[in-house]
Amino acid sequence: MTNKTFELLDEASGKKTKLPVRSGTIGPDVLDISVLNKDHGVFTFDPGFMATASTESKITYIDGDAGVLLYRGYPIEQLADKSSFLEVAYLLINGNLPQSTELADFQHNIQRHTMINESLLRMFNGFHYDAHPMAMVSATVASMSAFYHDSMDINNPRHREIFAHRIIAKIPTIAAAAYKRASGQPFIYPRNELSYCGNLLHMFYAVPCEPYEIHPLAAEALDLLLILHADHEQNASTSTVRLAGSTGANPYAAISSGVSALWGPAHGGANEAVLEMLEDIGTVDNIPNFLAQVKDKNSHVRLMGFGHRVYKNFDPRAKIIRDMCHKVLAKMGRGDNPLLELALRLEEVALSDEYFISRKLYPNVDFYSGIIYSALGIPRSMFTVMFAIARTAGWVAHWQEMIADPNMKIGRPRQLYTGPVKRDYQEIVKRN
Ligand code: CMC
Repeated sequence: MTNKTFELLDEASGKKTKLPVRSGTIGPDVLDISVLNKDHGVFTFDPGFMATASTESKITYIDGDAGVLLYRGYPIEQLADKSSFLEVAYLLINGNLPQSTELADFQHNIQRHTMINESLLRMFNGFHYDAHPMAMVSATVASMSAFYHDSMDINNPRHREIFAHRIIAKIPTIAAAAYKRASGQPFIYPRNELSYCGNLLHMFYAVPCEPYEIHPLAAEALDLLLILHADHEQNASTSTVRLAGSTGANPYAAISSGVSALWGPAHGGANEAVLEMLEDIGTVDNIPNFLAQVKDKNSHVRLMGFGHRVYKNFDPRAKIIRDMCHKVLAKMGRGDNPLLELALRLEEVALSDEYFISRKLYPNVDFYSGIIYSALGIPRSMFTVMFAIARTAGWVAHWQEMIADPNMKIGRPRQLYTGPVKRDYQEIVKRN
């Protein structure tokens, strides 16, 4: 709490209320409005949470105007350059970078939890062959609550820790099972001696009939993508995990609700939508026509991979990923990818167009991630699943932070009701 206050005047009664201002370590102050309803009987109204901090958090900081993203205080650029996804997951969950023994223990714990129960694996046969992988992943993560319910006491820190290891270890295995189900290939079991991303590639691409060699750049690019997507403070899916988790629900069920929220094209589904958009545009010549549609309010067409609720200058993740995108395409022999050429031209045209400049719309991380995934041979329907694997680390960190908070309350927003006032039930024969 600071000693700053805001004074609010109720003009009808003349009553004044002082609202305390709270400061974080960095970033805008917040106005503590918790007394408003108790003392004045009013709620605040903020659709889409445009001006509402839903919680206090120590995990991730974003300055949207300056293009800054910090995980536990560390700039994303430094983590992308020097760290690994598992180290970042440790950092997000535990608050500090690990000592070498702590990292080795964490990696060991993750590597020893990679298998999923065979019954869970058999569930995949129940899905239709063309089920969207996000539907399979969301359902399977929710089903984990059936396997780990009695052994999961959310008030027990050790149980919470085991949950964190299990879900971070098993989410690639679940993703791979969804991929194999969709491609009609046999499931490939994890290999614990491999790195997190090496194992992911192995489970995706190995087949029983021939050896599979992991391309080191593919593993490096994936690890970078996972780092960049690992957390993004109170975004829609993380807020969903917090809201579901705040009821005391089984944490696997809470993470599954995050997977579902991530699926939408305005959130994690954007990477898939970018590729669809590029394919629809087809060639550089069609860019002007496409942008004309984007600017036409009645068309409901958006330039996917552009714009962000928080970043109004540039998305720091997009800068990092753009370089990796070029490296992957050049070194993996796909330097003449027409989609990348189209994407770069589209980016150039949009960035010099008044419509996008005036609305502060810049490429976000997903403008490039889909292109990298497709260069690695990952099918489009799996793009958001890749995002979910990364974001699981952030969801777990936020869930842990919330459950460990002794002041945690169930999340329960209020509303401005604009429906009918009280009216009497009419017998059906009397209705007109
Ligand atoms: N293409 C065209 N116009 C846009 C776009 C876009 N991608 N994004 C925003 N606008 C326009 C919008 O029409 C509005 O114009 P006007 O003021 O004339 O009505 C103005 O910009 C403000 O838009 P908004 O919808 O109020 O902004 P928002 O902060 O609510 O939306 C967003 C953020 C990410 C949902 C939106 O920019 C969007 O739909 N982008 C495309 C989808 C996308 O790439 N999403 C991935 C986000 S990054 C991954 C993640 O973190 O989930």
